[in-house]
Amino acid sequence: MVVNSNTLPSHMNTTRRQFIVTTAAVAAAATTAVRSGAQTPTAAPATTTPAGPFTLAPLPYAPEGLEPHIDVLTMNIHHGKHHKAYVDNLNKAIALHAALQKKTLENLIGDLNFLPEDIRKPVQNNGGGHWNHTFFWSLMAAPGKPGIGGEPSDSPLAREINGSFGSVEKFKTAFADAAMKRFGSGWAWLIVKAEGKLAVVSTANQDNPLMQGIVPNGDRGVPILGLDVWEHAYYLHYQNKRADYVTAWWNVVNWNEVAKNYEAAVKATK
Ligand SMILES: [Fe+2]
Repeated sequence: MVVNSNTLPSHMNTTRRQFIVTTAAVAAAATTAVRSGAQTPTAAPATTTPAGPFTLAPLPYAPEGLEPHIDVLTMNIHHGKHHKAYVDNLNKAIALHAALQKKTLENLIGDLNFLPEDIRKPVQNNGGGHWNHTFFWSLMAAPGKPGIGGEPSDSPLAREINGSFGSVEKFKTAFADAAMKRFGSGWAWLIVKAEGKLAVVSTANQDNPLMQGIVPNGDRGVPILGLDVWEHAYYLHYQNKRADYVTAWWNVVNWNEVAKNYEAAVKATK
């Protein structure tokens, strides 16, 4: 993934012990430090929003690059407004906590119980929102190039998907099912669990499988693919037809990136 120097793929560079002990530790060793996040699409007034330490990286492609599957207006609002609000509100939440400002995003969201109670929920929502969206942008690319859309080429990832789900098609059905059954807002994920196995899970709101104490242990692991099913991700183009959005989204999935994520996550379990 190519968001910036703080990109997420490296989030899987961790040790087996860290992986097993806590997904927070996994994530910590993981990313060099993603900087930004926020809970709702409503950005805090600019005058009260601290400048950092988290920042919104540019999209790794032109906002119109995912057309016709994901429209340019949705991309501009999703990234420039919604994601930016998560970043701004995360910075605001930790503005009075100098020590927390030095932590990586994975440190912050990996084990929220270590945070002061008054900022726990804002960091969960906005830190999660920042991590999830930074990850999400990295998982897509303009269609038409090798590894974009369709099915993953022969690789350890493809073989594991076939082994775990029976076929890529069956995996896609399970993943889409998780995306469709998520009531309200949330995410569908393909994760590598501590024992190195793949699993499809879903989380509510801006939670993600790295969050210890928030997400049930059975749903925890290192995300290698994720799909945003908040209405803000698709409503302008697909209105209430979430299924059409999910179907179209497969055309822009960057399997090259997912395969890299998978191999890094598996290394972390050994
Ligand atoms: Fe979103």
